[in-house]
Amino acid sequence: MGQPIVRLQDVTKRIGGRTLIDKLTLDVPSGEVFGFLGPNGAGKTTTIRMMVGLMSITSGDILIDGHSISNQFEKAIRHVGAIVENPEMYKYMSGYQNLIHFARMIPGITSHRVREVVALVGLEGRIHDKVKTYSLGMRQRLGVAQAILHKPKLLILDEPTNGLDPAGIRELRDYLRNMARQEGVAVFVSSHLLSEMELMCDRVAIIQNGRLIDVRSIQGTDKSAVIARIIFEVDRPENALEVLAASGLAGISEGAGMVAVEGDKAFAAQVNELFVKGGIKVYGIRADIKSLEDQFLEMTGGEGIG
Ligand SMILES: Nc1ncnc2c1ncn2[C@@H]1O[C@H](COP(=O)(O)OP(=O)(O)OP(=O)(O)O)[C@@H](O)[C@H]1O
Ligand SMILES: [Mg+2]
Repeated sequence: MGQPIVRLQDVTKRIGGRTLIDKLTLDVPSGEVFGFLGPNGAGKTTTIRMMVGLMSITSGDILIDGHSISNQFEKAIRHVGAIVENPEMYKYMSGYQNLIHFARMIPGITSHRVREVVALVGLEGRIHDKVKTYSLGMRQRLGVAQAILHKPKLLILDEPTNGLDPAGIRELRDYLRNMARQEGVAVFVSSHLLSEMELMCDRVAIIQNGRLIDVRSIQGTDKSAVIARIIFEVDRPENALEVLAASGLAGISEGAGMVAVEGDKAFAAQVNELFVKGGIKVYGIRADIKSLEDQFLEMTGGEGIG
């Protein structure tokens, strides 16, 4: 992990005696796609508004590349590209003309850079068409292209998958990951749908009622370590439970010749070996994988909108 590009330190937001965000602390390093996940009303947009200086922070601080968004706003915001509300685009101009228009307002943006961002978001084929002919996903890519023109170190997107179809979400994932890899940008993206976050993020933070309840890795090694219920179909369930108990392991009788254990893949293999050695016939093994979605619902479930 690199240096954190954005650091939230005990960020708290209170409005009218209500605590909307409660001591939120997290770091995002460069090159990471970071998911900010929570049900409706959890405080995602509120946090993002504080990150881009659209809302004051009650207590705590947000550092962007080491600069406080409260005390060193100019220095901090220089490193940020964001789409919080719908970006303004001129519909009767082409995507390219829109980008050139924005590029003129930022010192030092070359036409080479404009072509570069167009390629990054994969809009080469349509960039000279008028924006009014763009699909929602294409408009969004154009918004991202505009947000990254000045080479920000941090790109913040509030619910970018809203309104996109599965193909659009897949494409968004691909170019966000490209951007993180090729430009070393940290991408901070909010969503209320875990299934989408799983596809595009390296790590996901889960917030509920303004509180951080979990941060976990998605990509890479962690995936295989997902805890599953592993169900063994055996000839003698009682003996199978004894074999487990003799090795200090817990099993649960599921009836109908089924015995369940909880663990990862390696554990399934280990239990299978114990059964075979213990003379238990194993007719079948089934992993009942608890998806991150299930875990998310378990963690946030039942409380409704905060
Ligand atoms: N300006 C405000 N004044 C008072 N309360 C606010 C204000 N802005 C947001 N809230 C409250 O803060 C809580 C968090 O809202 P926020 O918009 O940050 O949620 P969210 O996670 O973005 O939800 P969604 O998924 O629906 O976009 C909500 O209860 C909301 O009503
Ligand atoms: Mg929101």
